[in-house]
Amino acid sequence: MTGKKKKKQTHLTAGSHIGAGVDVGHCSGVRDRYAACGSATEYYEKYGAQYQNPHEAQVLALLRANETRVDYSRTLDFCAGSGEVTLALQRNARGGRFEDRKVLACDPFTADAFALRTGTPLDWEFSFEDVARGALDEVVAPHQRFSACVCSFALHLAPEALLWPVCHALLRVSARLVIITPHKRPVLELVDPEKIELEFADETPTERGKMVRLKCYKLRSIDTTINN
Ligand SMILES: C[S@@+](CC[C@H](N)C(=O)[O-])C[C@H]1O[C@@H](n2cnc3c(N)ncnc32)[C@H](O)[C@@H]1O
Repeated sequence: MTGKKKKKQTHLTAGSHIGAGVDVGHCSGVRDRYAACGSATEYYEKYGAQYQNPHEAQVLALLRANETRVDYSRTLDFCAGSGEVTLALQRNARGGRFEDRKVLACDPFTADAFALRTGTPLDWEFSFEDVARGALDEVVAPHQRFSACVCSFALHLAPEALLWPVCHALLRVSARLVIITPHKRPVLELVDPEKIELEFADETPTERGKMVRLKCYKLRSIDTTINN
């Protein structure tokens, strides 16, 4: 695959990659931080290099609990942050029967944080807008489609008008779309129920009792050769 897209990054110094994450128990605090920067996108543009999710344990637990229900053999970690999903999938696979797992990652703002934690570079730096315009279709050949795309703690940040175009684009290159979210949104099965199907859902509480949800979707009409 080719087409890696470079965008300007803020510089990261070792040890500074904490505290910029979304704390479910302090959603208004996070919203305030987004508002202070103008928008969530501008916030990550400025502070993406320092991002780490304070609810990484819930991401790991949800992926592990549902490991056998999704084929993660070839996964796209979309909006990869500092590698929360990539690291969880690798950690869950280690020493077990999923060792041949391959995870590719994409995020427009967290290249430094991702490289620092995972030791590997992002594969792409596409934004919601790029993906909605078909950027992934240009770099993922039909025989390279993913068995799953995981988008964790991020799809609620997509502008409403881009939500379906982004999800449809992700499902063109992936057999399954797995969303992990600290919110009830997005409810994709209501966005276009004729096209998209909720296969299963799960949830796990944070220390403060707030729910983090995992939802697995597939397109109703597409011939998903990898995962059927
Ligand atoms: C709350 S973080 C989630 C990161 C990681 N997946 C996790 O589970 O912790 C949201 C991510 O969305 C990315 N993001 C923000 N605006 C974006 C945009 N316009 N297009 C694509 N990604 C964006 C940020 O760079 C950030 O990594």
